[in-house]
Order: sequence, then structure tokens, then C-alpha cells
Amino acid sequence: MNRLMWVTAVVVCAVGCSRCTDPVECADCYPEPTPYDLDIPAFFPPMDIPADNPMTVEGVELGRYLFWDPNLSADGTVSCGSCHLPSASFSDPAPVSTGVGGAQGVRNSMVLVNVGWSPSFFWDGRSVTLEDQVQIPIPHPDEMALPWHEALARLEADPDYPGRFGAAFGDPEITQERTAKALAQFVRTLISKDSKYDRWRRGETSLTDSEFNGYEMFLREGGDPETTPGGQFGGDCFHCHNEAGTLFTDHLFRNNGLDASFEADPGLAGVTGMPLDSGRFKTPTLRNVALSAPYMHDGRFATLEEVIEHYNSGGVPSSTIDPFMKYTTGGLALSPVQKADLIAFLHTLTDTVFIHNPAFRDPR
Ligand code: HEC
Ligand code: HEC
Repeated sequence: MNRLMWVTAVVVCAVGCSRCTDPVECADCYPEPTPYDLDIPAFFPPMDIPADNPMTVEGVELGRYLFWDPNLSADGTVSCGSCHLPSASFSDPAPVSTGVGGAQGVRNSMVLVNVGWSPSFFWDGRSVTLEDQVQIPIPHPDEMALPWHEALARLEADPDYPGRFGAAFGDPEITQERTAKALAQFVRTLISKDSKYDRWRRGETSLTDSEFNGYEMFLREGGDPETTPGGQFGGDCFHCHNEAGTLFTDHLFRNNGLDASFEADPGLAGVTGMPLDSGRFKTPTLRNVALSAPYMHDGRFATLEEVIEHYNSGGVPSSTIDPFMKYTTGGLALSPVQKADLIAFLHTLTDTVFIHNPAFRDPR
């Protein structure tokens, strides 16, 4: 529909739509969208949803179509879902993703799990709202490489989208802002809450001895009690991958001791320009971590065993290493059984209900 036609339609709607409840009766008028009942699971904190982007059934559904639409990339081959695969907990099994024309990014794709609780986005936190974040991949040359004006033209030319925008936003106008709002609404629905860990927290199942020991290791301070005040011979994971709210991240930016220098990727410092932020990256959630290999911002570790070895070694000292990486000398000194227990616990965070949820899949 061209601009003049829809302006006319909006005027007609403004006059006639209060009575119009059936879209067939009045092609360009739409009933009020249906509020989406976002079910916040037990033990989770409330989710902050922007007042100007309330969740609606029609908005989420539109977001789902957009998320899976390769037509939003320059050559029609790459959708959001190409780098955020359900089987990998909405991340990418490759260390760095491949965008349009074989372009390679520099970072590992991030899981999209409980992202609605996050106060900032990307490994370096450069977006502070989800509505902002979801606008980046479409024109990004290494990702979907489609300028926004072209993306909007394609959506307008599509037989289906104007109606979907109308159902979600009250009139069929297609804008970058509305596209972003719908994508953000869909991403907020990607909630994982049915792992074995969740069922255990709800009293529906029990953990094996190894899983439970791993859980305790996760929550215990590291260090030899003989030599370290408060030391409990633990894994010391909980400081950063905070269990409170069951999100398994503190949402902060930390240097977990991967490198001694940060030329390859300055992390948060690339956004703030502050040398003290060098090598600091967003603490990722550990939900579904057994599905989201490879690990870290650059995908350097192929397995959870390698990750545990990294922490057990204590990490590489540097000027910005996190104060919670306390054992750069001597490491955590975990036994083989303790390491296996920690990994068994991490596997309890796998949520197969989540990755198979048909509501998250390509609707076409
Ligand atoms: C070519 C691969 C690729 C495509 C396509 C892609 N992403 Fe991503 N996504 C990534 C990578 C890589 C990162 C991390 C980048 C960084 O930190 O610099 C990321 C990060 C994110 C994050 C941040 C998560 C967090 O916890 O901070 C969200 C949300 C996201 N993508 C959503 C989307 C949406 C929505 C689309 C489609 C509009 C999309 N992505 C398309 C690869 C991709
Ligand atoms: C000082 C804070 C801190 C501590 C302590 C910590 N982590 Fe991390 N963890 C991080 C940060 C930050 C990252 C991302 C670092 C990066 O990619 O540069 C991370 C990444 C990970 C990853 C990779 C996740 C992914 O999606 O790539 C796993 C797995 C992990 N940590 C598990 C653990 C376990 C298990 C422990 C305890 C043995 C632990 N962490 C202790 C901060 C911490």
C-alpha cells in the first residue's frame, strides 16, 4: 500500500474503527491487539518491559515471522535464526558466525535465553535496550547486510506483513521502530524454565549425587581453608554466574582471565574507552550451556571440560583481571571427580522443552 493510501486508511480508521472489531469488515482497521500473558516462572525476578512496547500476541507473532525471515538479508539467505539456532540454545555452533556472502564476524553468537532480563546486550554491552539491539544485525555488513530502507521496502511489498503490522500496532504502517519492537517482543518470550535444575527447584525431581555435589561446588568459595580465609575448596562460580533469580549471570562485565593483553578484542573498553574496562565481557548466562558450545566471546573453548580447566588453572593474570579470579597462582586445585561433578551440574541447566518449543520455531 502506498503512503497516501494508508494515510487515508488511518483517517478512515480513526473515524470508524471504534466500532470495527472484524478486520474483514474494514480492511485497514484492526481490533485492539491482545495483551500477551508473559508467564514469569517461579523464582525469577519480574521482567522490565518498556512502557512504550507492551507485549501483545500479535506483536510476538509478527516478531517471530521477522526473526525467521531470510528476506531481511541482502541476498535472501540469512535470518536471525541462521546464527541463533534453537538446537544450540539460539546460538551458533561455529566459533564465529557466517553472514551474507560468507562474511565472518569476530565474536561467538550469543544464546538467546532469558535475554528479557538483561540490562544490556552484546558481549561488550554496546546496546542498552533490546529494541536498540535488534536493529543492528539487519544492516550489519557481516550479518544480514541489508540497509534498513530496503528492508522496510521489502516488508511493505510483502502480501502478508502489512496486515501483521496492522494487527500488532493498530494500522499497517511499517517502520524501523515497529519492526524492532516486534522483534524485541519475540525475543522476550524466549524463556527457559524447564531444565532439570528448575524441576528440582520446584520439588518435581531430585538431582543425582554427582549433580548435587557439582551444585555445591558451584556455590562454594574456592581455595584451601588452611591457607585462604573463607576457602571451601569450591569452584567459586557463583560470584559472577549468580544463581539469584535463577538467571546464572550477574549481568556485569568482567575479565575472567582469558588473556594477558587485549589487542584482539578490548571488550567493554571498546565501548567506554576506559583502559580499566579492557578485557571485560558480559557474564553469559549458563542456562543451556551444554548446548551452546563453543565457549567465550571468541568461541575459543570447544568443550565444557576445557572451560573447567581454564577456571581450574586460575586464569591468566592481567591488569584488569576480576578480583573474583582469586587463584591465578595455584588455581582452584579441583580433583577429577569435582570437575566431573561441576560439569554434571551444568548439564542440569539443559532445557529440552525450551529448545523444542514450537512457538519459537519458523512459522512458515
Ligand atoms: C551472522 C550472524 C548473526 C545474525 C544474522 C544475527 N545475530 Fe544476533 N548475535 C550474533 C553475534 C555474533 C552476537 C554477539 C555479537 C557481539 O557481541 O558483538 C549476537 C548477539 C545478539 C544478541 C545479544 C544477546 C545478549 O545476551 O546480549 C541478541 C538479542 C541478538 N543477537 C538477536 C538477534 C536478532 C533479533 C537478529 C535478527 C534481526 C540477529 N541477532 C541476527 C550473530 C548474529
Ligand atoms: C570473575 C567472574 C567469573 C567467575 C568467577 C566465573 N565466570 Fe564463567 N564467565 C565469566 C565471564 C565474564 C565469561 C565470558 C568471558 C568472555 O567470553 O570473555 C564467562 C564465561 C563462562 C562460560 C562460557 C559460556 C558461553 O556461553 O560462552 C562458562 C561455561 C562458564 N563461564 C562457566 C563458569 C564456571 C563453571 C565457573 C566456576 C568454576 C565460572 N564460570 C566462574 C565470568 C566468571
